[in-house]
Amino acid sequence: MNFDILEIINNRLGENYDLHDRYLNRSLVKVLKTIGFDKVYSRAQGAYLYDREGRDFLDCLGGYGAVNIGRNHPVVKQTLRNLLDRDMPNMVQMDCSLLSGALAEALVKRSPPHLNAVFLCNTGTEAVEGAIKFARCFTGRESLLYCHKAFHGLSTGALSMNGSHVFKNRFGSLLPSQAVDLDDVAALERELATRKHAAFFIEPIQGKTVHHPRNANFWPRAQELCRKHGTLLVCDEVQTGLGRTGRFYSFEHWNLEPDIVTLAKSLSGGLVPCGAILLRREIHDRTFNSMHHCVVHSTTFGRNNMAMAAALATLHVMDAEKVVENSEKMGASLMSGLKALMPRHEFIKEIRGKGLMVAIEFAKPQSLKLRMAWKIFQAAEKGLFAQMVVIPLLRDHRILTQVTGHQMDVIKITPPLIIGSKEIDRIVKAMDATLSECYKFPGEMWNMGANLVKASLQNK
Ligand SMILES: Cc1ncc(COP(=O)(O)O)c(C=O)c1O
Repeated sequence: MNFDILEIINNRLGENYDLHDRYLNRSLVKVLKTIGFDKVYSRAQGAYLYDREGRDFLDCLGGYGAVNIGRNHPVVKQTLRNLLDRDMPNMVQMDCSLLSGALAEALVKRSPPHLNAVFLCNTGTEAVEGAIKFARCFTGRESLLYCHKAFHGLSTGALSMNGSHVFKNRFGSLLPSQAVDLDDVAALERELATRKHAAFFIEPIQGKTVHHPRNANFWPRAQELCRKHGTLLVCDEVQTGLGRTGRFYSFEHWNLEPDIVTLAKSLSGGLVPCGAILLRREIHDRTFNSMHHCVVHSTTFGRNNMAMAAALATLHVMDAEKVVENSEKMGASLMSGLKALMPRHEFIKEIRGKGLMVAIEFAKPQSLKLRMAWKIFQAAEKGLFAQMVVIPLLRDHRILTQVTGHQMDVIKITPPLIIGSKEIDRIVKAMDATLSECYKFPGEMWNMGANLVKASLQNK
């Protein structure tokens, strides 16, 4: 048989957007074309993407946090090659595979001692779905508590705990759930006292906004209240885990002891999907409480060898290359570089984050002329200013970033955790140059904003 994947890649690279327009998500194609993100990337290595002309693009999106150790890490690649050449039995299902046991052991070793049981799955939303079931089965309660502006995935269980109506509307009824505000201890206590909530799901640092409670005692107090009222505390570390915030788990910043933790994204180095739930043994065993119930929660690809091997290799790389330490160090350097821009750029309202999960929030400028421009554009479309910044960052500086969510003037920077001073310097200089252009009104940046408004109105 003669099948050559490289032939497909080499002969058809460039047809990407046509194919997607024809067979996949047309609206996404439209958005990417409107904002000039319709690039054809040909190669990727570490923190960089390369187009067909070999130009480098600094990846500050990091595959939504899936490539913490950098893209196409040689150790993960070699591990996958070795595994394939070994012709291991895979997904026999009615056996206990070695590599899933080894990965569970490696995860438990890196976690607080009470998190001593593991469930392995494929994605973040699947880890959250599993956590919902474990919590409901353990507590016998149905409802879920979560935070406003939360994001835990888009399958219908996880969607029940989503803080945005754009994601929730149009999909019918979801699981019973209730949202509380960060820092609102009274509301949290009121809800927990109803004793109807199985679990309180938190992102210790929220992925959509990069907010964490202003009150340093809010998470510890939330944990205390959860214990008092019999609600499990679930830390969703799908985005914040594995070194993103300068700790292996972000809950370490508050010394929390969650009952359940979810992981995914970077767990297997960005090459194979892999998710995990770490939890107390007694919670795990309540679901699998008899031989009759031994597969009541399961997924076909959940412990597949490719994912297990890639995850074991990724954890090894994280240790060997001191990835968590680098995230803390480079994150501090990025924050201080960006903060140093604040006195010069009135558009910057706040720089926040931990490790290499950094947000830049923009706000109305002071000077009259710019304030007027801001107001006109905000009235047309909230969040437009951040989009106006993201576009030239890619076009002029070849830095890939994202606006964090609908109607938010926030840009998030989440590069692979292996970046160094050279990359930090490039980000800070590009941000400085891009914001400097915004003072020219009328000017190219604001014209571009007007075009975005036009495109958005035409599409409504
Ligand atoms: C905190 C959090 N939980 C869950 C998910 C869902 O993960 P996945 O996209 O792998 O399903 C995400 C994805 O962004 C996330 O940020």
